[in-house]
Amino acid sequence: MNPRKGKQEIICLCNNVSRDVIEAAIREGADTLNKIFDRTTAGVGPCGGSCRRKIAPLLEEYLATGRFPETIKEDKRGKKKSR
Ligand code: FES
Repeated sequence: MNPRKGKQEIICLCNNVSRDVIEAAIREGADTLNKIFDRTTAGVGPCGGSCRRKIAPLLEEYLATGRFPETIKEDKRGKKKSR
């Protein structure tokens, strides 16, 4: 089993923030991306926030269903298409 998957999966590589830390922040009331960034430091690292593509789907699913997805479907909107 890949140790980087599941709740220990590091979502924000810049600031070493795991999925369980982000999920805890959301459960405790962080209902916008900015609140998650403030509480966890995820999404505000030197890369410019590439992990936001994973944080946004986690938050959206939780707000819509009250649960977190088994696997994170990265939000690729805004990503340049390669030709
Ligand atoms: S990976 Fe999260 S800000 Fe860079």
